[in-house]
Amino acid sequence: MPKILASKWTKAAVFLVCLAPAGYLLALGGLEYRAQVQGIGQPGNLTGDPIKYITHFTGDWTLRFLLLTLAVTPLRKLLNQPQLARYRRMIGLYAFFYGCVHLMIWMGLDKEFAGAELWKDILERWYITVGMASLLGMLPLAVTSTAGWIRRMGFVKWQRLHRLVYGCAALGVIHYYLLVKSDIRLPLLYGAILAVLLSYRFAVRRRKAGAVAAR
Ligand code: HEM
Repeated sequence: MPKILASKWTKAAVFLVCLAPAGYLLALGGLEYRAQVQGIGQPGNLTGDPIKYITHFTGDWTLRFLLLTLAVTPLRKLLNQPQLARYRRMIGLYAFFYGCVHLMIWMGLDKEFAGAELWKDILERWYITVGMASLLGMLPLAVTSTAGWIRRMGFVKWQRLHRLVYGCAALGVIHYYLLVKSDIRLPLLYGAILAVLLSYRFAVRRRKAGAVAAR
């Protein structure tokens, strides 16, 4: 197992797997284009409301990748597989990538880059404000995700900054909770997963603090 996880081919495979949702969306878009423009095949590949479908699809994957990023360290420790750490940065950057696509779809396709309307929504619709805060929080994490930045900032400072990812995930869950109209089961499920990941983190910290105090 450690050998497979250390392989550059496994890393390339994980990269492609993370890209699969985007590929799936592009394939659906291609099929829709063929149906609508060339008259080949059936339309409706992106449902009756393509913009809504793409917005929801990319929002879902942003949150999933964010939670997956947070799950890497607990899994690494529980499964005793230190090599899993090699994948955390990539998965985190994918969360940011899907978040940016999600934002661009909303800004470009939904709002057609109408500046005044965008600002109105950001300032007046709580779920948009919270979603924006979540993505903005991810920005410094994406920028400082390289080894060069860890060296420049020092590991302790860098680690402290990167705890922000929990806040981003929490804001993502709140964003989802605020926007659903009736069925809150999925936002609650994501919230529960985040709560488990956070509890694990606190438990590890408490155990470490206890061990230091006992020395
Ligand atoms: C950057 C600012 C963001 C904006 C402007 C934005 C906007 C939106 C909009 C307009 C919707 C669809 C609402 C509806 O149909 O009623 C949506 C859905 C969603 N967004 Fe965002 N969002 C943002 C950031 C985020 C982030 C950072 C995450 C995740 C961490 C996220 C996760 C989701 C989820 C999970 C959904 C619902 C998906 C579903 O119903 O299947 N969004 N967002």
